[in-house]
Amino acid sequence: MQTVKVWDLPTRLFHWLLVVSIAALFITGKMDDAIALHGKIGVFVVGLLVFRVLWGFIGSTYARFLQFFPTPARILAYLKGEWRGLGHNPLGALSVFALLFLTALQTGLGLFSFDEISFHGPLSALVGDDLAVRLTGWHQTLAYVLLAFIGLHVVSIVFYKFVQKHDLLRPMITGRAEVPENASSLPAKDAGIPALLLALAVAALALWAACGTWIPEPPPSAVMETPAW
Ligand code: HEM
Ligand code: HEM
Repeated sequence: MQTVKVWDLPTRLFHWLLVVSIAALFITGKMDDAIALHGKIGVFVVGLLVFRVLWGFIGSTYARFLQFFPTPARILAYLKGEWRGLGHNPLGALSVFALLFLTALQTGLGLFSFDEISFHGPLSALVGDDLAVRLTGWHQTLAYVLLAFIGLHVVSIVFYKFVQKHDLLRPMITGRAEVPENASSLPAKDAGIPALLLALAVAALALWAACGTWIPEPPPSAVMETPAW
């Protein structure tokens, strides 16, 4: 066996920052007095997700979406045991896309939330309180759907490790995977500093947009004149 580079540092950092953030969001979401912190961490996740989406187009070899997009042909080949590749396998790729999509949806709903007490999501002014309350209801429900997918994700990784004898965790930590000596998979080609700076800049812009500071203050509500009588 030999080891080859598969996950670059930005992809690994993205993953582990996402794990810590999601754990913190589930904890703060359930606490009584941590909603402001919950909102801040949620906005940070917007930056992480936008970074990852861009990295899926301009990142290193195996971080690119086209590299692991689960086409029916790839899934079929995998199920027949004929898939020989590096990076996310076609079934793993399905779960990667599902996790990214659900996390984005959950975060998006949070941005427009209103807890009916004092906390307004940073973009809730765009939709008004009634819709914001409805979206918060969906946010509360979707949290459990996301949790179920995360559970499946972790159980699959344990399954691969102990049943398939395939360690997916170590490459997500060290960046390197073990492949047979004669394997044809090439090591990941780094994306380069300009691509990294571009992805970071767009992520920072998205973070700023998600903070909602650009939304104009509503005009002060008309003061009721006290009738003379
Ligand atoms: C992936 C990102 C997020 C996750 C996993 C998440 C998770 C949760 C969870 C587990 C709850 C508690 C649900 C319940 O009561 O059973 C919650 C509630 C809530 N979250 Fe999030 N959240 C995320 C992002 C956000 C963002 C970005 C905001 C706003 C900036 C936000 C605002 C809220 C609000 C307002 C509530 C309702 C609090 C209440 O009425 O009790 N969340 N979230
Ligand atoms: C302790 C818990 C977790 C462990 C041990 C873990 C482990 C892993 C591993 C080993 C991979 C690589 C899978 C492969 O090679 O195909 C991966 C990928 C991924 N995981 Fe997790 N994970 C955990 C929690 C989470 C959570 C909470 C999320 C958030 C929703 C998440 C989202 C993802 C995503 C989006 C990828 C694809 C990474 C990329 O291509 O950027 N994971 N995870």
